[in-house]
Amino acid sequence: MELTCTVNGERRTTDGIWPGESLLYVLRERLGLPGSKNACEQGECGSCSVFLDGVLVCACLVAAGQAEGSEVVTVEGLADGDSLDPVQQAFVAAGAVQCGFCTPGLVVAARDLLEREPDPSDADIREALAGNLCRCTGYEKILDAVRLAAEGRRG
Ligand code: FES
Ligand code: FES
Repeated sequence: MELTCTVNGERRTTDGIWPGESLLYVLRERLGLPGSKNACEQGECGSCSVFLDGVLVCACLVAAGQAEGSEVVTVEGLADGDSLDPVQQAFVAAGAVQCGFCTPGLVVAARDLLEREPDPSDADIREALAGNLCRCTGYEKILDAVRLAAEGRRG
């Protein structure tokens, strides 16, 4: 099966996709974009979060064929060249990155929240990140990072 979609602003075509292959597999193994992490492959951890036509999804739960003709944005697509996205910068500045395995998914989910709600309450942040698991940080630094990113984006 062939798949053509736009990934991080670039039109990409991949062939040889087998039925049932996930978008996450295509991104990581066929398109060389390892930023979206493969942890549970069951929609439980959020580490594979990407935008599909502007909607936050777990790429492990999206069949590759569902992305035909769509626009996909991964964590790699958030940075502007060598300049990190402000949400990425906030995660670094707040010390919210330890092993980093959860970080791409959290950054994408936080970006989604801040696009919808520029001034989120703590409850908003906790709800938005409820689908993203982190085994290292205890979450407090992650909450700090999202608060910091929100402040930065509001100027
Ligand atoms: S790898 Fe997709 S939700 Fe965990
Ligand atoms: S920093 Fe290690 S899982 Fe979150």
